[in-house]
Amino acid sequence: MKPSGKPLRLQGGAATSRSDRKKVWLVTENSHKLREARAVLSNHNISLGQIRLPKVEIQSQDLEEIALFAARSIAEKVDRPIIVEDSGLFISALNGFPGPYSSYVLQTLGLDGILRLVERARGREAYFQSSIATHLEGSVFKTFSGRVNGVISRRKAGRRGFGYDPIFALRLDSKTFGQMPESEKNRYSHRAFALRKFAKWFLCNDHSIGPDRSPAEP
Ligand code: IMP
Repeated sequence: MKPSGKPLRLQGGAATSRSDRKKVWLVTENSHKLREARAVLSNHNISLGQIRLPKVEIQSQDLEEIALFAARSIAEKVDRPIIVEDSGLFISALNGFPGPYSSYVLQTLGLDGILRLVERARGREAYFQSSIATHLEGSVFKTFSGRVNGVISRRKAGRRGFGYDPIFALRLDSKTFGQMPESEKNRYSHRAFALRKFAKWFLCNDHSIGPDRSPAEP
């Protein structure tokens, strides 16, 4: 488990009235994720606030399990409808590496290190996965995942996006996510797929949340 000692800071304003029915809060410190998610959810008429809290990350191969654990721990502290997202890059020829360790590997090996590993491997196929855990009220938690299949490009390209975007492309002859405007990345991305699944479910249910039903209260 990787607890973070950073201080708690909430953003997004007050939150538990009926008029907030179509608002959820993404728990993230990553402004790129927030922007991408806002654009996707706004197409479904859902507004997105930000809760700037670090995620508590358990060690697991399963991104849904990681997101769910983080959502449970945030839901104990925060009385708002939340979504928590965990994502990773899975490279087939490296048996799914870096997968759930994507963040650590990016910080240590970096993009150049990954390119060198893939150069020596058999095949460049890879996919991104995004897993979302949501908690709206009571004891109900739900998860949604999205994937995008693609390849690790031969070299870095593009300055847009974040993380592995400059080395991930849908095909070897196509541009990387790092070369795509955000709106284009959102047409294909793992995160957009997971968020669209969430949005469909969210809009099909009555998810009003009241302070009297907050999991944070005794
Ligand atoms: P996490 O979900 O924030 O833990 O992300 C794991 C790692 O994958 C981090 O290093 C992110 O930068 C990277 N990552 C997550 N989503 C994306 C994406 O959409 N594009 C590129 N890299 C990503």
